[in-house]
Amino acid sequence: MIISIVNQKGGVGKTTLALNLAGSFYKMGKEVRLIDTDPQGSLIQWQAVAEDPGVKVLHQSRPVRPRQIRQLKKDADILIIDSPPALEKTTLNNLRICDLTIVPVSPSPLDIWSANDTVLQIRRVMKKNKKMEAVLLVYRKIPGTRIGKEAKAALDGYGLPVFITEITQKIAAVEAMISGQTVIDYSPRSKSAKEFTALAKEILK
Ligand SMILES: Nc1ncnc2c1ncn2[C@@H]1O[C@H](COP(=O)(O)OP(=O)(O)OP(=O)(O)O)[C@@H](O)[C@H]1O
Ligand SMILES: [Mg+2]
Repeated sequence: MIISIVNQKGGVGKTTLALNLAGSFYKMGKEVRLIDTDPQGSLIQWQAVAEDPGVKVLHQSRPVRPRQIRQLKKDADILIIDSPPALEKTTLNNLRICDLTIVPVSPSPLDIWSANDTVLQIRRVMKKNKKMEAVLLVYRKIPGTRIGKEAKAALDGYGLPVFITEITQKIAAVEAMISGQTVIDYSPRSKSAKEFTALAKEILK
């Protein structure tokens, strides 16, 4: 399975999501490859501080070619592709080659509105890439807030499916990154680890 993480808006949590989702699949015994197609190369920096990453990261700040994909699929069960914060060539290519696109959206009106262009572009690609499914994800939810509660309803307006699992804003996800781990290894019993694991299970279903 090839999963692309896409949102044109910067800083919504694409890279953190890609990493911790990969960590969850790895813990479930899957062979995972993370492909970092963002020129910022954040995942490569993470790999550099990671002592025992488990998840293998490949950095490539240009479109992934079909031949590469075929080769990578031979070695791995799941490929997760992190995209740059723009709807340019690389991101469009990531949409074209994947089976599942996940769009993380923070539950704030500005973030929900700004997902519009990303969703429009995804719909365009879906007309050609018929095998691709696109699912929105409530990401960085702050529990106990009204906006957190209403986030899912707001995302429903886009007419794409929304994951039942929601990912809460948690410092553990950030601390794990600093120590070169995924939150699954850094703090296995944390709410954050449980949410990413639940998301991985929901995807496999
Ligand atoms: N679940 C989370 N809880 C708390 N903070 C988070 C969470 N996920 C991400 N963050 C923080 O949000 C910020 C943006 O995250 P990240 O770099 O993953 O986003 P991005 O969409 O990949 O950004 P860019 O568009 O620049 O690539 C970072 O400071 C990160 O530590
Ligand atoms: Mg990123």
